[in-house]
Amino acid sequence: MNSRRDFLKQMSGAALVAGAAPSVLAWALPHGQQAVEFPGEDNMIVRSYRFVDLESPVEYFNTWLTPVPHFFVRNHMHEPSELDPADWHLSLGGEVEKPLTLSLAELSKLEAHSVVNTLECAGNGRSLHRPQVPGVQWGKGAVGTARFSGPRLRDVLQRAEVKSTGKHVMFRGLDEVPGKVPPFIRSIPIEKAMHTDTLVATQINGTALPKHHGFPARALTPGWVGAASCKWLTEIKVLDKEFEGNFMNPGYRWPNHPGKPGEAVKPEDTHPLTALNVKSLIASPGDGSTVHSGLLHVQGTAWAGEGDVVGVEVSTDDGRSWQPAQLGSERAHYAWRLWNFQWKAKSGDYAIAVRASDNLGRTQPTAPVWNQSGYLNNAIDQVRIHVKA
Ligand code: MTE
Repeated sequence: MNSRRDFLKQMSGAALVAGAAPSVLAWALPHGQQAVEFPGEDNMIVRSYRFVDLESPVEYFNTWLTPVPHFFVRNHMHEPSELDPADWHLSLGGEVEKPLTLSLAELSKLEAHSVVNTLECAGNGRSLHRPQVPGVQWGKGAVGTARFSGPRLRDVLQRAEVKSTGKHVMFRGLDEVPGKVPPFIRSIPIEKAMHTDTLVATQINGTALPKHHGFPARALTPGWVGAASCKWLTEIKVLDKEFEGNFMNPGYRWPNHPGKPGEAVKPEDTHPLTALNVKSLIASPGDGSTVHSGLLHVQGTAWAGEGDVVGVEVSTDDGRSWQPAQLGSERAHYAWRLWNFQWKAKSGDYAIAVRASDNLGRTQPTAPVWNQSGYLNNAIDQVRIHVKA
């Protein structure tokens, strides 16, 4: 396994290479952005070198499962520099009768389950909020879908015999905390932790989790914001109340009553983010692209957290009229659906928009719901294209 110094060396090398020879994908990125090579990653948009925050260009969202080298990476701090699987262990304590520690070999002996899940960072689309808000300026691609596999969290918890006082389950990762930054520790309610689909995942798309995605084990809290799925898991603690820490409060909260754009909400008028919204994206054609007139395939993805997408509609006339798109056949409860819309395009300039609806009665709004952290932007997606004869 590479040390962080090796890793940083590789990264700066990669940046130099990228500076010398612009990536093939540079045409597809918004002005001023450049895709660079990163070890284990393929042409991702770098949002932060310091803590490795990598975004997928939306053009990649043309497969149901996102290949791992195209899967976004979100790190709040440094990844663990040394991680020997032989030394790694997971401790489980707190409100349990039998605190325990599991090695990777012991964890691997537990029955494994698979969940196809769309993982989206709560801050995805933050750069599109108006007024702009501080934080990683994600475009549209801090999202991806993968098959996560590993033992159920409930099987691990049941081994330790959770007491009736256990109401929340806390995860601690092995991140290397820079300076006085608070560690990445968060908790989820016991009901979600005990759900049969919540995993201690050790695999992604059939292979061991790579380091960027939490090797050797991460929590997988399906349908919820990515922050609920702690990477490099080292400790699980059952608590009698929600964990109190920076990444629970003031981080990752949603206003009880969202106000006008620009309005700040007091922390006591907020609650923790949980499940994702209904949302869709146009993967192709790309924003700002020029295409030939004739039959055009407008394609993309749509997801709904713990809901199921029931419909996707496309508008080619700036939102005046909407036509149903065809949904792809591949589906799973927490996973996005691919969609496709065939349109006879005549020459001219167009705004193509997409909106999804789900079985919980939700439809995407025209503008993001304002909140000062820029979370959960699920506004209708739109691209502008030029169709030439
Ligand atoms: N777990 C740890 N230990 N440290 C982190 O910084 N980031 C969280 C979550 N788990 C994070 C973490 C956030 S905000 C997201 S969106 C997801 O991991 C991203 O998972 P990925 O990098 O595998 O795509």
